Amino acid sequence: MAEVIIVSDAQAAGELVADEIARLISVKPDAVLGLATGSTPVPVYRALTSRLDGIDISGVRGFALDEYVGLDASHPESYRTVIAREVIEPLGLNPDNVHVPRGELVDMEHAGVDFEAKIAEAGGVDIQLLGIGTDGHIGFNEQGSSMASRTRIKALSPQTRYDNSRFFGSLEHVPTHAITQGLGTILEARHLVLLAFGFGKSVAVAAAVEGPVSAMTPASVIQLHPHVTVIVDDEAASRLQLADYYRAAYAGKLPWQGL
Ligand code: GLP
Repeated sequence: MAEVIIVSDAQAAGELVADEIARLISVKPDAVLGLATGSTPVPVYRALTSRLDGIDISGVRGFALDEYVGLDASHPESYRTVIAREVIEPLGLNPDNVHVPRGELVDMEHAGVDFEAKIAEAGGVDIQLLGIGTDGHIGFNEQGSSMASRTRIKALSPQTRYDNSRFFGSLEHVPTHAITQGLGTILEARHLVLLAFGFGKSVAVAAAVEGPVSAMTPASVIQLHPHVTVIVDDEAASRLQLADYYRAAYAGKLPWQGL
């Protein structure tokens, strides 16, 4: 089962994950990081910045989960721009080592296969950060996504477009489509770390961790992976039936030891 770690707040989660990424880079200088966008992983990137002093990160590689389709790459909300602003620049990663699926409306039919090939060439993802949508999506794998899916174009659901309209000023400016790593692609990362904060994520978290594995909750695919860590605050954990068990299981233990 997934390790479920309930922390006081997003910052505490960020510190835990940053510790693990820094440890990974210290033993594997060319580590491959699976990068997520959205507001959830931001505390991880912030905490990581202060842990990389004196560590050579020139070999660290990164792959983003997804990208909007049809936004100019220079648009402030394109994930290429967000990853540059939130991750590459503050961490000091080599931009040539960080890949985002191509969302430009040119040669789109090859974009998914090309991205999968780059991940394979890098030897796969070591640690994949994941947020979760309020409807249980990961990346942009909307409800109904195949558990075996690969990187491809998906239409965004009305809920996802509504949730993300805060980044675009108004709903009409939110793209209608995205290119996203598939659930099958995500499952191939060696360690999945799913983060969620706030009451708004509590239904999705409970469904993902304790509900049936179902295409209606794409994040429930994590139950099929042998090494998953879910880190949530008290609010996001509030609908977990086994919350007391998770708290007891991890009391006094290093979080990454597993159950
Ligand atoms: C988008 C992203 C997801 C992210 C989700 C939640 O849909 N494609 O990767 O998990 O938003 O975003 P936030 O972390 O801002 O709540």
